[in-house]
Amino acid sequence: MTTPSLPMVQPMPGMPERVTIYEVGPRDGLQNEKSIVPVDVKADFVRRLLAAGLETVELTSFVPHKWVPQLGDAEELLDLLGPAATGEHRPVLVPNERGLDRALDKGVTAIAIFGSATETFAQKNLNRSVADSVAMFSPVVKRALDGGAWVRAYVSMCFGDPWEGPVAIEQVVDVCARLMDLGCDQLSIGDTIGVGTPGHVLRLLDALDDAGIHTDQIAVHFHDTYGQALGNTMAALGRGVSVVDASTGGLGGCPYARSATGNLATEDLVWALDGLGIEHGVDLRALVDTSTWMAEQLGRPSASRVVRALSA
Ligand code: HMG
Ligand code: MG
Repeated sequence: MTTPSLPMVQPMPGMPERVTIYEVGPRDGLQNEKSIVPVDVKADFVRRLLAAGLETVELTSFVPHKWVPQLGDAEELLDLLGPAATGEHRPVLVPNERGLDRALDKGVTAIAIFGSATETFAQKNLNRSVADSVAMFSPVVKRALDGGAWVRAYVSMCFGDPWEGPVAIEQVVDVCARLMDLGCDQLSIGDTIGVGTPGHVLRLLDALDDAGIHTDQIAVHFHDTYGQALGNTMAALGRGVSVVDASTGGLGGCPYARSATGNLATEDLVWALDGLGIEHGVDLRALVDTSTWMAEQLGRPSASRVVRALSA
């Protein structure tokens, strides 16, 4: 028996020709790891991801150490990475002006702010209401844009919230619009706890479109808690989205939402895109090697189904 190492290419109508994979492994992937990963391992992880062909890699977060101890080495990581750490394709998470100052000091030119569709998660993750968090982000976005930086806005809990349950689509669109009105370049809609399903994704994309936020500005960020991330991604691609967040090895989670588990695994996404004949620029073999290496560093097997199949 021969295990296939690549899928057969069978395109599907209505899909984009090219997809940008926005790799969140070093940030979302690691932020929830209990044992601190040494900073030189993080730097190697980023270098290996870049060498595998990932163009956009979110590196870390400029949040207070006490909020996310795992990413308390943001400055050190960027120093280690040197010139590879800057540019439009190396975003970092920034919650407030203090975080922006720290990021700008390191030459960062791409940032991501991160809001919440629900009040409970805004309180838990940002220690303030939705309205106060928009007020916190406003000067951050203005200063970043004035300085020529690229700005992404994440919105979490777009498909459900572990404390509040279902979240109305109008409520999600309202928060997305408030953040995009600040002038952000891209919106990433987050299924933080992985409960969404494809029809829900299409309804939200339609509602955002009606509100003037179109698919060329939208990225999808699906956690895979309920095994829906790849199906939801395919639905979004069919509706015109062409930026997909994923995490090598399916690492990920949010320390402030316990029911959030790993992100869509980058390798599983790459396999699906390869099968559809969609360009993405990533070398699957190199990515699988990176994932296997990172799994060894973390002391547990990769959660990616593709990595497991190819390593069998
Ligand atoms: P706070 O405690 O309310 O902040 O936190 P504060 O303004 O009251 O400041 C408290 C102390 O922190 C002060 O120091 C500040 O100077 C300092 P002190 O005077 O006590 O010595 N401080 C800072 N230090 C370093 N860097 C900073 C900074 N800001 C303040 N940037 C805050 C408010 C927003 C900062 C906090 O709630 C926070 O950092 N939250 C972020 C938590 C987080 O990172 N969560 C995970 C990322 S979100 C996610 O994963 C979801 C996503 O993947 C999408 C999805 O899946 O849905 C993006
Ligand atoms: Mg996330």
